[in-house]
Amino acid sequence: MKTETYNKKKSDFRLTPNLEDYEKTYKTFSWDQTKNEVDWFPKNKLNIAYNAIDRHAESDKKNKVALYWENESGEKQEYTFWQLKDLSNQFANVLDKLKIKHSERVFIFLPRIPELYIAFLGTLKAGGVAGTLFQAFGPTGLLDRLSISGARFLVTNRELAKRVYEVKKKLPHLEKILIVDDKPRHSGEIDFQEEMKTADTKYKIAHMDKDDYAFELFTSGTTGKPKGVVHGHYAILQEHMTAKWVLDIHDSDICWVTADPGWVTGIAYGMLGSWSIGASLISYDGRFDAAKWYELLQKYQVSVWYTAPTAIRMLAKAGIQLAKKYDLSNLRYLASVGEPLNPEPIRFGLKAYKLPFHDNWWQTEIGGICIANYPCMDIKLGSMGKPFPGIIASIVDDKGEELPTNTEGNLALKPKFPSLMETIWRRPQKFKSYFKKGWYITGDRAYKDKDGYFWFIGRADDVIKTAGERVGPFEVESALIEHPAVADAGVIGKPDPDRGEIIKAFCVLRLGFHPSQALIEDISQFVKKNLAGHAYPKEIEFVDSLPKTRSGKIMRRVLKAKELGLPIGDTSTLEEY
Ligand code: PRX
Repeated sequence: MKTETYNKKKSDFRLTPNLEDYEKTYKTFSWDQTKNEVDWFPKNKLNIAYNAIDRHAESDKKNKVALYWENESGEKQEYTFWQLKDLSNQFANVLDKLKIKHSERVFIFLPRIPELYIAFLGTLKAGGVAGTLFQAFGPTGLLDRLSISGARFLVTNRELAKRVYEVKKKLPHLEKILIVDDKPRHSGEIDFQEEMKTADTKYKIAHMDKDDYAFELFTSGTTGKPKGVVHGHYAILQEHMTAKWVLDIHDSDICWVTADPGWVTGIAYGMLGSWSIGASLISYDGRFDAAKWYELLQKYQVSVWYTAPTAIRMLAKAGIQLAKKYDLSNLRYLASVGEPLNPEPIRFGLKAYKLPFHDNWWQTEIGGICIANYPCMDIKLGSMGKPFPGIIASIVDDKGEELPTNTEGNLALKPKFPSLMETIWRRPQKFKSYFKKGWYITGDRAYKDKDGYFWFIGRADDVIKTAGERVGPFEVESALIEHPAVADAGVIGKPDPDRGEIIKAFCVLRLGFHPSQALIEDISQFVKKNLAGHAYPKEIEFVDSLPKTRSGKIMRRVLKAKELGLPIGDTSTLEEY
């Protein structure tokens, strides 16, 4: 297939890119040499929160706005670096008063509101492990995540707390629930605002080792319970360097990272890496709406915009004419992550904003961008780009042997780099299973072309990407069989022109239940309510049986092949069905 290339022109650069020569830098780069881009305490200690906020609060940026926040009803707030420093110090003091211990988990289950950012930063300052839970999770999704992490603290609001109380009995270690918008009503509840009022704005930040745990995020896979991916404080170096060289964030930039802080992008760039550079971030607590998004880009004079292919496709659907109604002249750099960025959305960006979207690739487990298109590099439309300096990427076969160029295989990275996960929470064997022959195996299939550009092909496993959000089919299947009518279920990602994939479930009904539209609706809503608002099947098909291996594992690839009318492939392990 012929590759379409976008050659960079002088006019593409309003500012000189932070990274001017990719090839030269790649050859000479070492993490150790750049380590002083972040600030260290004596004896090789550091803290992510200090780097994101306090070092700017102690500089001439102290009165610069770090966070512009706005919600759907038009409420607005602004926080300077100085204010965020004080507020996160206060929250760290609140945690100290509650006797938080080193590496104890504090989970934050909130919509995108300022308290989320404050609690996250304050937890890091206190030496705890911060975790976020996407606001769409329901009781079952929360139960797994809160029980696996063993969190003693939860920060939430009254509305979302209701879902936690449905499973609270099964969470004996969850002692303190800090409510941000209401007075305590149950034992163990704490009034967040009241505690903050009396907490000191001074705090002695915990000095952490590079590999001390900083934050934990859950991902779910093809089997088993969700995994708690844990990152260390040293992740900040990679998040800082990639914010600088990939997102090309300059001091003067106003950045909008559209990802929710419930996901890794919302943390690594919607907070940490971008703030570490000293840029202003905007945060919008509201649903997607094309006109509203343009209004925000215009109003806040956003210059760097980091979003996802599904959003770009939705903006494209809304039409170029809509984009032209707004003054988007401050935009200077666009980037995308989370799912394949096909040539079409890039072409749309060029027409609508006169700028190309730069695709980049990474995962929750690797904590920061690892493969990217850079401002100084021509874009091959559809490619994820080239490895970040300090990252060695390759394509390997199933035994971990490197494959030649233009050959499909497993995308692999050479450990270790600063933002690679430190562990999978309490599952050392699972953590080990990611590594083969000295490579970290990403779970993605890809190839590398002769110029060193990487091209995404698909997942090696059954993990689903719907609207850029990662969903493990096993978790959805487990939620489905909790429904009284469902005896068995198999779940796949079905290609969808708008959302990348949608979740499709094949269900075997229990005796006495009969297929109907009402039952489809009921099952779908059941999963939406119990597991998560973003991880329920949009399509359900009733079947008599599911394809399984002789050992009883669902062969999702058979379901997928049938759905797509593709050859089923090797069925030697398939039990008759
Ligand atoms: O399959 C790849 C896909 O998203 C997975 C990681 O998802 P998550 O942990 O939710 O992190 C997303 C944000 C960093 C990857 O294994 N993915 C991510 N970026 C791209 C991508 N697929 C294609 N192109 C990308 N640029």
